[in-house]
Amino acid sequence: MHIDVVKSGNESFERGGACLVLPCHEDAPAASAVLAQRDARVLAALAKQGVITGKASQCHYFATPKSACSGVLVLGLGKKTRLTQESVRRAAGSACAVLQHNRIEHAYLDVSGFRGFPAPAFVEGLMLGQYTFDEFKKRANAKTKVTALTVIVPARSTTRTLQQDCELAVMLCAATNGARHLGNTPANELTPAALSEFAQRAAEDEGFECSVLDKTQIASLGMNAFLGVARGSSQPPKLIVMQYRHPKAKKTVALVGKGITFDTGGISIKDADGMHKMKFDMCGAAAVLFTMMAVAAIKPAVNVVAVTPVCENKTGADAQRPGDIVRAYNGVTIEVNNTDAEGRLILADALAFTVDKFKPHALVDIATLTGGATVALGHFAAPVLGTNDAVVNELIQIGTDSGERLWRLPLWDDYSKLIEGTFADLCNIGPARQASSIIGACFLKRFTGRTPWAHVDIAATAYGVKNIPYWNPDLATGFGVRLLSRWVLAQAGK
Ligand code: BES
Ligand code: MN
Ligand code: ZN
Repeated sequence: MHIDVVKSGNESFERGGACLVLPCHEDAPAASAVLAQRDARVLAALAKQGVITGKASQCHYFATPKSACSGVLVLGLGKKTRLTQESVRRAAGSACAVLQHNRIEHAYLDVSGFRGFPAPAFVEGLMLGQYTFDEFKKRANAKTKVTALTVIVPARSTTRTLQQDCELAVMLCAATNGARHLGNTPANELTPAALSEFAQRAAEDEGFECSVLDKTQIASLGMNAFLGVARGSSQPPKLIVMQYRHPKAKKTVALVGKGITFDTGGISIKDADGMHKMKFDMCGAAAVLFTMMAVAAIKPAVNVVAVTPVCENKTGADAQRPGDIVRAYNGVTIEVNNTDAEGRLILADALAFTVDKFKPHALVDIATLTGGATVALGHFAAPVLGTNDAVVNELIQIGTDSGERLWRLPLWDDYSKLIEGTFADLCNIGPARQASSIIGACFLKRFTGRTPWAHVDIAATAYGVKNIPYWNPDLATGFGVRLLSRWVLAQAGK
């Protein structure tokens, strides 16, 4: 999306396919320095009739054939005191359908009547809301998309930082949509090999290092928990190790993402209802990969290492059995009493490897780990757990702003005791239907050593999110890309 931030008075409208988007509050009349008098009168009349109310996400479009811009979209923001980045993001998401219906390609966001309007959040709502996945459709989606956005700010304000902030939003949403594309791609197409080839190409394009370890290398590193999961599939596992380095970096941070390209549950098989959605079980890996791509393009002064174990969890002739005991990279032995708790197994090795090889100052993992995330918080927030308050709180703050909301759950020892093994050091499951997101995180903790660590469980937020205007419940959300990218950027220079 092309962005132009201009002071009011400096705008020049394109005819055709162009629309003035005028945000307005419930409790304040719409104000614009740009709107022609006759259009302002139409607006006032519509408000008087109660057609335009300014209620959150209300959209009203009217054509303005005699004006410089061909139409006006009045966009409700709700109450003035309730204006947040998220309310603007959602309003923009609601506007997508109307803009598309009216064949708008160039939107002029008229915030000449606002001070400090969060225009980057508007950019995000538009870009996320317009995303489609039609690679496999015979007739590709012929929907019109807004490809240019002019932001009209008050004549007295400055434009430079807002321009930069909007451009950053464009970059991060493009990365988010890239991660969504991988998430939506079915598992027959996006095999572990295909995902690692994608990562290698991305690394070449964006200029970071990427090595893909194959099954033999994974085995010689002693990653037997990871291999135990992979052995049920004819698709060989891959360990993708990515590194971004900056000469002025003062520290190294690490990201780890769960990359199960399909989760049948293994021998502890899932039921058929909704199993097709387990193609989304690599969304953690996709988030980490696209975070690396965004970071490498932005070039902050921090070193980043990203590790994603990638494999399928299937039921092949050589699949691991419930009760099998495996020895992880760090020597900890694990009793695999449920083969469907596979995410923690592949992450155990990936976390222990990352900590051991790269000694990062901080470590964040992201994974579609537990159905319990949905039980605990539904689709409107992701559980975050961790051993370091600073890292957890940074993530929570960033997520509040980006709309990737996080809610902290505890990691008390009482929970850890529930996964002590009977015959091995650890068991990969706790008691059924009890605090499974917490128990999953307690398990992971055992593989992070003393590294400050946080874990984000995106099982409920990576896809299937209803009732948020900029999301489509059928599609992946790319949850974590903007969160982790902004977190990495915040570590630069520290
Ligand atoms: N990939 C699933 C978690 C999941 C479930 C993600 C539903 C999205 C929607 C994970 O591998 C899994 O199967 N977890 C089990 C763990 C249990 C056996 C301890 C779960 O949450 O049921
Ligand atoms: Mn599973
Ligand atoms: Zn899984």
